[in-house]
Amino acid sequence: RSILVLHGPNLNMLGRREPQYYGADTLAAIDNRLIERAAAAGYRCATFQSNSEAELIERIHASFDDGTGFIVINPAAFTHTSVALRDALAAVKLPFIEVHLSNVHAREPFRHHSYFSDLAVGVICGLGARGYEFALEHALRHLATQG
Ligand code: DQA
Repeated sequence: RSILVLHGPNLNMLGRREPQYYGADTLAAIDNRLIERAAAAGYRCATFQSNSEAELIERIHASFDDGTGFIVINPAAFTHTSVALRDALAAVKLPFIEVHLSNVHAREPFRHHSYFSDLAVGVICGLGARGYEFALEHALRHLATQG
């Protein structure tokens, strides 16, 4: 079983986008660290970013039978808007962790609600790019213990 890391809209701009919220790491740097850490533990980690809700939904559908055992997702702005992305995760029934680089609860009120948190195994926010790494550690442990 492998791990799928999904990044929502505008996260392709990481490193250049509002670094006070999102840090200086590029998405490629973050993804490479995750892939290497998973490989060191003997697992494959696939990463995917899209600015399109439809593409993210289709990637989640594909995870249903491509050997994915765990999803780490930062839905970005779709966190606060997308019933469709929520429904896709509910449909495939894979365990997932919701990650946000910034502490969404310390920001505008419209970022305080998530369509994902009640379905998630857990939620990490405000820890920057390391939040993905902590989520990955949990995913690796999950796969090691439950296949
Ligand atoms: C974000 C927080 C969202 O509110 C925002 O729309 C993003 C990124 C984060 O990682 O902190 O694009 O998910």
